[in-house]
Amino acid sequence: MRQVVQDRQDARTRIAEWRGKGLTSCLVPTMGGIHAGHLALMERARAVADRAVVSIYVNPTQFAANEDFDSYPRCLEADMASIGQRADMVYAPVDLYHPSHATQVNPAGAALGLESEFRPHFFTGVATVVLKLLNQLPTDSAIFGQKDYQQLTVIRQLVRDLDLPVEILDHPTVREADGLALSSRNIHMAAEHRAIAPQLQAILRRTAQQLLAGTRPKTALVDGRDLLRRSGFTGIDYLQLCNPMTLQPTEAVTAEARLLGAVHLGAVRLIDNIALGDVK
Ligand code: PAF
Repeated sequence: MRQVVQDRQDARTRIAEWRGKGLTSCLVPTMGGIHAGHLALMERARAVADRAVVSIYVNPTQFAANEDFDSYPRCLEADMASIGQRADMVYAPVDLYHPSHATQVNPAGAALGLESEFRPHFFTGVATVVLKLLNQLPTDSAIFGQKDYQQLTVIRQLVRDLDLPVEILDHPTVREADGLALSSRNIHMAAEHRAIAPQLQAILRRTAQQLLAGTRPKTALVDGRDLLRRSGFTGIDYLQLCNPMTLQPTEAVTAEARLLGAVHLGAVRLIDNIALGDVK
């Protein structure tokens, strides 16, 4: 098992040493609660670079006061056991912020709408911490899951807009056999909610099929929201068809157009998405 690096200077030095030897590196940023989705990102990182770096940090600035920061899974030992030899370095700082930290990155563009309507603090927290992580861990590339599709798009936009010298890679969502997207929060789901949860992906697929069969977007989305409600989700934040680059709502039914959904099952909030072209 790897040793955990807590000090940013130690982490930087290691990456610089690799670079000095001509070795490339790829970062997998996480908040821990490592599951098979994270492991797939690590395997991809290993495939594209000579060295894989995993960061584990539950970032307080992306949680609002009423959200699950306190109950978010923190299990470093179990995480290290799951990571095993898949990473060459695990960076798990105790705190990432200076006690007088006072700078925020406020992304607009792809950060507007969808998640931001329900979690207005979220992308400021994510963009700020990801910029800090990319500065502290200057790897050649960094990899993010498509499950958090808006986050992925906001990070691509951040890297483009601020000319960050890193390549952003993405990886398809890893799912349970019944279609539920893997998430660190799934462990908090009650058994009766776990039985309902795969319906989110099923209804995204059904809505995509309707769109591809020619149903008007407005009608397909109303039907989809209605079906989510009737399936037992306790709240529906959004079901939206979006342009895959800008994440603006669109009526253009193309293979790349992205259908994104966010729902609640009791205390757990689930998000998922698909490209229309991914639906067979
Ligand atoms: O997706 C996550 O786990 C987090 O939002 C990230 C990118 C590690 C930033 O804290």
